[in-house]
Amino acid sequence: DKGLAVFTSGGDSQGMNAAVRACVRMAIYLGCKAYFIREGYQGMVDGGDNIQEANWASVSSIIHRGGTIIGSARCADFRERAGRLKAANNLVQKGITNLVIIGGDGSLTGANLFRQEWSSLLDELVKNGSITAAQQEKNSVLHIVGLVGSIDNDFCGTDMTIGTDSALHRIIEAIDAISSTAYSHQRTFIMEVMGRHCGYLAISAAIATEADFMFIPEEPVDVTWQDDLSIKLHQERSAGQRLNIVIVAEGAMDREGNPITAEDVKKVIDERLKHDARITVLGHVQRGGNPSAFDRILACRMGAEATLALMEATKDSVPVVISLDGNQAVRVPLMECVERTQAVAKAMKEKRWADAVKLRGRS
Ligand code: F6P
Repeated sequence: DKGLAVFTSGGDSQGMNAAVRACVRMAIYLGCKAYFIREGYQGMVDGGDNIQEANWASVSSIIHRGGTIIGSARCADFRERAGRLKAANNLVQKGITNLVIIGGDGSLTGANLFRQEWSSLLDELVKNGSITAAQQEKNSVLHIVGLVGSIDNDFCGTDMTIGTDSALHRIIEAIDAISSTAYSHQRTFIMEVMGRHCGYLAISAAIATEADFMFIPEEPVDVTWQDDLSIKLHQERSAGQRLNIVIVAEGAMDREGNPITAEDVKKVIDERLKHDARITVLGHVQRGGNPSAFDRILACRMGAEATLALMEATKDSVPVVISLDGNQAVRVPLMECVERTQAVAKAMKEKRWADAVKLRGRS
């Protein structure tokens, strides 16, 4: 009679639906009641129809769909204890003490705090008469498991986050398309790609499309980058190349920490090389559309493993994130991953780029 709920939080990513489906189906297979929480933490706080029992059929035909069918939101209410108290009441009323959170590091940190506070929240709910002592006893421990859904691949502790592979495919398709028209007109294209503070998408796309130059946050260019860029593009053209592709990650900067934008790059190319240069900002196209086969399968494996981890959890087990380690879906302590991810952000802010790369690990 265990109740398990799954929700998606923060920015969406391709493959989230496949993960939701796997959690729900594995829960039903194991004899649990499965629930959706719609609109992320906001739905948990608001309760009502936002928390709905799911069945086998309610997750049919979603594996191939991008985005998240149960909605996602950034929620200010859940950051306050009053919001978390409401959320705890809504869960206890449905007998839900197992949560799968699909989101980024902020969402997972919030879940961990909720878990730590759970017994004090339940004490308060008994005191104010919202729940009975029997309900408190029956729901005394909250178990949580995280899955990382993000196109950025910026989370420590997993080789790949759900959505990254699909986003990369989308970028590559776009650059291939741009390359053919660039070739015809001997143009230079500056492609801005997402990734916030992580250059994974940019560097992978640069390798896969044989781009001529790239700018990523983890390896800031020298302040003389204008010369390096001009020389490199000029060399390629002199060698007979009819086009150039330059990839600029959001968050790219120079060694002084000054941001480098696609406009900055275009200006240099216009002024120094007099190329016919154009900018394409890929934007949210990268986060939309159907998930790749890799993301669907990754999400299926991670979702199933998340449910299994919850069912095996005891009151002393630490919350985990389901990670990809090589080709294995493994359980890694959630806070260890979150703390490392935050340490990377701190190192980047303090311009300790080499430390950031080392801390981030394999991916
Ligand atoms: O974290 C995923 C991401 O797509 C980043 O790559 C990007 O910087 C950000 O989200 C955009 O956020 P929003 O959808 O809120 O504009």
